[in-house]
Amino acid sequence: MQGVDPAWLPDEVFRPIGTRRTLVRGSGPLVDTVHEEVTRACARFGGRVERDAAPGPYDLVLEVTGTDGSEAFTCERADGRTNVTATGPSGLLYGLFHVVRLGEDAFREDLPRQTHAPALALRMLDHWDNVAVHPVMGQVERGYAGGSLFWADGRARGDLDRVRAYARLLASCGINAVAVNNVNVHETEARLLTDRIGEVAALAEVFRAYGIRTHLSVTFAAPLVLGGMDTADPLDARVRAWWARATAEVYAAIPDFGGYVVKADSEGQPGPFAYGRTHADGANMLAEALRPYGGTVHWRAFVYDHRQDWRDRSTDRARAAYDHFVPLDGEFADNAVLQVKHGPMDFQVREPVSPLIGAMPGTRLAVEVQATQEYTGQQRHVCWLGPMWSEVLRFPVQEGLPVGELARGGLVAVSNAGDDPYWTGHPLAQANLYTFGRLAWRPDADPSQILDEWIRLTFGTAAAAGLRAILDGSWRTYEKYTAPLGVGFMVQPGHHYGPAVDGYEYSPWGTYHFADRDGIGVDRSAATGTGFAAQYAKPWAEVYESPDTCPDELLLFFHHVPYGHVLHSGRTVIQHIYDTHFEGVEEAEEARRVWAGLGDVVDAERHARVAELFEEQVRSAREWRDQVNSYFFRKSGVPDERGRRIC
Ligand code: GCU
Repeated sequence: MQGVDPAWLPDEVFRPIGTRRTLVRGSGPLVDTVHEEVTRACARFGGRVERDAAPGPYDLVLEVTGTDGSEAFTCERADGRTNVTATGPSGLLYGLFHVVRLGEDAFREDLPRQTHAPALALRMLDHWDNVAVHPVMGQVERGYAGGSLFWADGRARGDLDRVRAYARLLASCGINAVAVNNVNVHETEARLLTDRIGEVAALAEVFRAYGIRTHLSVTFAAPLVLGGMDTADPLDARVRAWWARATAEVYAAIPDFGGYVVKADSEGQPGPFAYGRTHADGANMLAEALRPYGGTVHWRAFVYDHRQDWRDRSTDRARAAYDHFVPLDGEFADNAVLQVKHGPMDFQVREPVSPLIGAMPGTRLAVEVQATQEYTGQQRHVCWLGPMWSEVLRFPVQEGLPVGELARGGLVAVSNAGDDPYWTGHPLAQANLYTFGRLAWRPDADPSQILDEWIRLTFGTAAAAGLRAILDGSWRTYEKYTAPLGVGFMVQPGHHYGPAVDGYEYSPWGTYHFADRDGIGVDRSAATGTGFAAQYAKPWAEVYESPDTCPDELLLFFHHVPYGHVLHSGRTVIQHIYDTHFEGVEEAEEARRVWAGLGDVVDAERHARVAELFEEQVRSAREWRDQVNSYFFRKSGVPDERGRRIC
């Protein structure tokens, strides 16, 4: 597509296919998409493609044998031919992109027959996009990549070429679902459900060609605000009938509509509590409306008191999701999915895994991560989140079962894409989008292999070593120069960019660090604290309960300790704070230096954009370092062992 950054699908990655002879067999829109892809590659590189011809001297045969919904495919190479076979059309599409990733390796030596199937059936991006520009949140809430890809000037874009290119990128990394509007559903966006559903249908049509189903965030109060009713009580028959009618019309417009996403009783959004009903009552009402059509309701578990009194030490926001939802286990309909943030707070750079995951065996659960870098540098800092997500997905939170297996309802990311020419603002933030899709396909995959894959596809091989050096440790670098040891926040209120150690300390949001002259951290133990640690299954409840066994990186999430407390690393907490903040800045400076050296192997525009962003990252990292170090030096009076300058 002219003028659009091809991200990890530059023409070059299609060369191995585009120079060869390919046969595409099968029918249906997704097979057409596969055929178009190969046709385009051949037009570029001089190869040949046939559709539904008899077997012959082909290098590559892409064949779908049925029309089922399976996303699996097999790939093998024997007798000089590479065969990709699927029983369902979307499997063929994923098979094509598998061959693209293999590159020349797909055509060299024999490849044993291998079946590839996604571990998770739902691999979804939630877009926090507003149709109308919101006075505080702008067009994309927590968006750092320009405006919305879908909405402009108060309506769906007329030219959907960019959406098509986006759908293609998403399919190529395995994503199969999108929600096209913000979970905070404002007045204009509420109408997408009813009289403006045609605009959603236009987007859905584009996504459908790449095997992606479209979902919509809806307001729980829709019967009131759209239906003119006097209640949205989920147990009221008239309300249920309203939802059934509205949903029937949605499916009339979008036959393969995925379902609803709902943020209810959360940060001011309406919900079932207003009627004395439970969240299961609310979710099940929508599940019932969606059931006849095979749709799903994604009900978010992000329910907590955002009007907390900071003087009240007994209320703990970290506890809230578990306390609200565990008692409802077994009550949710089977087409209701409880969507849980990966940590108990809110997408901080370091949090423990949410104890809710695995604690509701009778409920389908989806895990939500945040690709948009709200708390991880807002796409001005390089912060590749692959290792964090991988740690989360592999963490054996319940009876040895990892999060990636417990997330039976799927994996969801808040999207980091927008209408920025590089899709994600920071060109290197594309790595997060790609890695998310690949981890959703295989949660136990090695993230560093995924990173290598992304680098090779996007930049070729010349810049590989440098890019790997920049990206691989970037999450840990970011952690080093920001809030220490899992304590979280310490950000500027509102927009959340840059340091403010006490920014949220006396606020109603429930996000405190409790630093005083003697120590820091939140006591969440069962013995003396809020009891949050006891929400975990064995062995984690015991591990987190004591500062002796709690992992260093989460110490201040679970415990309030003196500055002189000695970590497992052998350093005191205060010295750890100083050291990591100096190191973090040095690492950011080093990454900037490595990038500067890639000027000859990266295109000039991209190079300039990233170089400029590195200036901001280093400036901001120094600000973080100096504010955090000065704050704790002034609180504690403990000097840096190494006598470095702290103001
Ligand atoms: C965070 C974020 C909000 C968002 C919320 C959510 O708190 O700052 O902008 O609405 O998460 O996940 O619903």
